[in-house]
Amino acid sequence: MIDNKIAVAIVGCGGMGGGHAIAISSGSGQAVWRNDGGRGRELEPSDTPIAEKMVLAGTYDIAEARQEWARSQGLHTYSSFEEILSDDKVDVVLIATPNDSHKELAIRAMRAGKHVLCEKPVMMTSKDLEDVLEVAKETGRVFYPRQNRRWDRDYLVMKKIYEEKLVGDVFHIETRMHGSRGIPGDWRGRKEQGGGMMFDWGVHLLDRLVLMVPEKITKVYAKMNHVTNDEVDDGFIMFVTFANGVTATVEVGTCHFITLPQWYMAGSQGTASINGFNDPGRMVVLRDWADKDATPILAGEGLTKTMAPRGANSTEELPLPYYDYDRNELYSNLCDVILGKAEQIVKNEEALRILRLMEAALESDATGKVIDFEQA
Ligand SMILES: NC(=O)c1ccc[n+]([C@@H]2O[C@H](COP(=O)([O-])OP(=O)(O)OC[C@H]3O[C@@H](n4cnc5c(N)ncnc54)[C@H](O)[C@@H]3O)[C@@H](O)[C@H]2O)c1
Repeated sequence: MIDNKIAVAIVGCGGMGGGHAIAISSGSGQAVWRNDGGRGRELEPSDTPIAEKMVLAGTYDIAEARQEWARSQGLHTYSSFEEILSDDKVDVVLIATPNDSHKELAIRAMRAGKHVLCEKPVMMTSKDLEDVLEVAKETGRVFYPRQNRRWDRDYLVMKKIYEEKLVGDVFHIETRMHGSRGIPGDWRGRKEQGGGMMFDWGVHLLDRLVLMVPEKITKVYAKMNHVTNDEVDDGFIMFVTFANGVTATVEVGTCHFITLPQWYMAGSQGTASINGFNDPGRMVVLRDWADKDATPILAGEGLTKTMAPRGANSTEELPLPYYDYDRNELYSNLCDVILGKAEQIVKNEEALRILRLMEAALESDATGKVIDFEQA
């Protein structure tokens, strides 16, 4: 502890570790980048002021350039991982290194008496996570998966629409991230380091989907894309069926110069969509089924009655619901769990289920088959 606050040391101070360093040291809980480094974002009234609970002890990176960057931000740097482990003030080791190193670092940290906040995907396989959770049990340390995108507003809004049936009974959900930059030219392009988009954005999209639809998943079918990269998937499309009959398309793409909506939700009484992070979204709800039988219209080179547009007053466009929340809840919850005041919000069993789901997707891609995932 430092000044009675949970002291965090970061291992791996690259893009994400650097972001954590700014987020924690500034007390704002999030980093905003600018050319000379980062600064903390402004706290909103609903955010926990995490500076009251958590403090940054320092950072360590094997790359000297990143050590220098941390020092340029006024942060303390450790000279090795071992130095972090032997610092009695450090309560939590935050692992933000490439995915293949998470297991070893987590086990060493917990055996040295530290709690662990581990970046996603927490491990490369479900078996690795089982091993790590054994060590957590043995040592009595907290192992906390950083599956943070369940705190994105676009997701929380869509979850509310689903739960409150604002578009009726939902029968299909599409969750997607489309970009056009390909895979970054770092370890994300290398298989042995846990590269590829399933391990990158796939974790987040699946984590959110299964929290939104709290049912067993019965079937999984997936196809990985290799448009710009042979070694790892540079995107994928996955089709998921839940026990209640809801279906979902989960898609990540890095070669899309026109993007499809981030969220699309179809229900018996309406449709909702959100195009991207800065899109307020749309929700169109049904007001009058009476308009069902339309007169055929000429469309293309044929007539259609089924696809004729609806009458003007039979639907209504509504704004999406507002959602207020604590954007620092994950950091805050980690501190409370360590102090024995709360249960983990991101549960290890949830992280394990996501790893198994990703393994089912990879198996489906390899075999071309639909995988039976959980017994209904
Ligand atoms: N939760 C999220 O939203 C989110 C976003 C981005 C990245 N991540 C995750 O964060 C992790 C890091 O990703 P990134 O984008 O920061 O990668 P990055 O390449 O920018 O940074 C990784 C850093 O780790 C350092 N490193 C590698 N091995 C090390 C070791 N053994 N000891 C100390 N330092 C070491 C590298 O020098 C590099 O600076 C990955 O697991 C990634 O999936 C999560």
